[in-house]
Amino acid sequence: MSRSEAAAPFLLFLVLSCSFSVAVLAASTYPYKEQKQTLNVAGGGMGGGAAATTESKRYEGSSDLVNLRYHMGPVLSSPIKIHLIWYGRWAASDQRVIRDFILSVSDTSVPKPSVAQWWSTVALYTDQTGANITRSVVISREYTDAGYSKGTRLTRLSIQQIIQHAVAASADRAVDHKNGIYLVLTSRDVAVQEFCRAVCGFHYFTFPSIVGYTLPYAWVGNSGTQCPDVCAYPFAVPAYMAGGGPKALRPPNGDVGLDGMVSVIAHELAELSSNPLVNAWYAGEDPTAPTEIGDLCEGLYGTGGGGGYTGQVLSDRKGRQYNMNGRGGRKFLVQWVWSPVLKACAGPNALD
Ligand SMILES: *[C@@H]1O[C@H](CO)[C@@H](O)[C@H](O)[C@H]1NC(C)=O
Repeated sequence: MSRSEAAAPFLLFLVLSCSFSVAVLAASTYPYKEQKQTLNVAGGGMGGGAAATTESKRYEGSSDLVNLRYHMGPVLSSPIKIHLIWYGRWAASDQRVIRDFILSVSDTSVPKPSVAQWWSTVALYTDQTGANITRSVVISREYTDAGYSKGTRLTRLSIQQIIQHAVAASADRAVDHKNGIYLVLTSRDVAVQEFCRAVCGFHYFTFPSIVGYTLPYAWVGNSGTQCPDVCAYPFAVPAYMAGGGPKALRPPNGDVGLDGMVSVIAHELAELSSNPLVNAWYAGEDPTAPTEIGDLCEGLYGTGGGGGYTGQVLSDRKGRQYNMNGRGGRKFLVQWVWSPVLKACAGPNALD
């Protein structure tokens, strides 16, 4: 869920915020205005790594703004089995980028700064049984819906209908109820209710009346041709920012819409894992508009970020920006997430 967020002095962030909260159909305004926080942190808790911190900026103003609390519900502590649904037309090369990102979450052999190291911050969240979020994420099976079974203009509820259709249409209907989640990815020609305007992705859980049972799911859309300046920031910036504002970064896999999706997928997976039934980890008093662990760090990709600046990231030999390595030599630019240990945003590329 993933509210997007308004980073104060910059109007930019009123627009940019990605994935927004969708707990209820009505939750579509920006309920809070929070500052982005940045902190120079090392490790992000990787392997119990030292939390040596050097604060560069504290959350300005009241720390009440970041009152991330646990609400007694479960987190995803068992190995996560993703059922991936490709809705619309997808190039095989684009699918490989997304698969590689997802599979990098559990791949600890990748050189640092790595996706797995980024996920180690997510794995710091526990539930009331003391169980941490799992470090194991696999793609359990994939479904394709190249025929746009629900059309090219979707509502939020259509996403659940797409899930129902995918499962019903597959020969093997076995779904791992225990550890399964759905991830629905829509191609760039698909419009989704509030996509671009208020959301870039969301997560929730399925309803028995539509899908037949309750499992967590997330949706992320490709914004490449619809609103890259909104949902694929910082690979595109709004036109009115051209000039004095931050310049667009170059996407590490060469595709603004696709590389933008990767960070939103990361955001949603982190939030879905820490708040799968919308009763675990979130800030704010309103569970229909929760501020979750990705929301708190939206727009922040490196040390020193905040207020419209992404923070320090890395560049590859071709001059493309990234902040973490994935399997097969891939590189990704993914937003940081809130660490419950550091009480700050954390990422694998943090500088000491
Ligand atoms: C589990 O979470 C606790 C509390 O955040 C943390 O101290 C511990 O390192 C975590 N364990 C793993 C394996 O991430």
